[in-house]
Amino acid sequence: MKIGITNLKGGVGKTTVSQNLAVCFAHMGFKTCIVDTDENQNSLVWSGVRSADLPDIMVVGVIDINALPKTVDKLHRDYDIVIIDGTPSLSEMATGIIVSSDILIIPILPSAHDYRAMSPFFKRYQQATSLKGEIPAYFLINQYSSNGNIYKRMKEVIEGFKIGVLQSVLAKRVAYLETAVDGKGVYESNDIKAKEEIVNLTREIVEIAKINNLIKLKATA
Ligand SMILES: Nc1ncnc2c1ncn2[C@@H]1O[C@H](COP(=O)(O)OP(=O)(O)O)[C@@H](O)[C@H]1O
Ligand SMILES: [Mg+2]
Repeated sequence: MKIGITNLKGGVGKTTVSQNLAVCFAHMGFKTCIVDTDENQNSLVWSGVRSADLPDIMVVGVIDINALPKTVDKLHRDYDIVIIDGTPSLSEMATGIIVSSDILIIPILPSAHDYRAMSPFFKRYQQATSLKGEIPAYFLINQYSSNGNIYKRMKEVIEGFKIGVLQSVLAKRVAYLETAVDGKGVYESNDIKAKEEIVNLTREIVEIAKINNLIKLKATA
């Protein structure tokens, strides 16, 4: 399965979600890799500090739009899960990521500023679906805090976009910052709540993948 983690805004958690999903999938027994499309190559750097004792996650940096679909398809022959860590740029790369993915996860922060800034993404999404057909896409609320009003208002707005919203949310936790520095994911930390929420997210994606026939069921998910 090819999972695009995308949103044209920076700082919403694309890289954090990519790395943490990759770690969780790897622990579930799926052969997993990340394609890092951001020019700052955070995931590539992260893989460089990841201990060789931990489940292996291959990271490939691709910043050339023409190379992206070919690289993703080649990796997909060898890997069960290919996660594309998206770029925040408004370039053609954004469409390339959407077209190269079987499913899209769109991290979004619970702020009015963030969800109002979605229209450039939708232009790209519509452009991509007109080329390739429907691509299942889901918002993921990141850095969730239980400020009920903002959350409720936000859900109303994003539901208007006709894109799914994952039931799983990720809270704002220091474990996400600390583990990233060591080339790990929160699954590999002592923060039980963080671990639980990333497992729930990964399982929810596996369920969606099963329904859409996107996954080879050889791992222990
Ligand atoms: N759930 C979270 N809790 C705490 N910090 C987070 C969380 N998600 C992301 N961050 C932090 O926010 C910053 C931006 O996240 P990042 O994943 O790099 O976003 P993007 O890849 O979309 O630019 C990083 O410093 C990251 O560690
Ligand atoms: Mg990033």
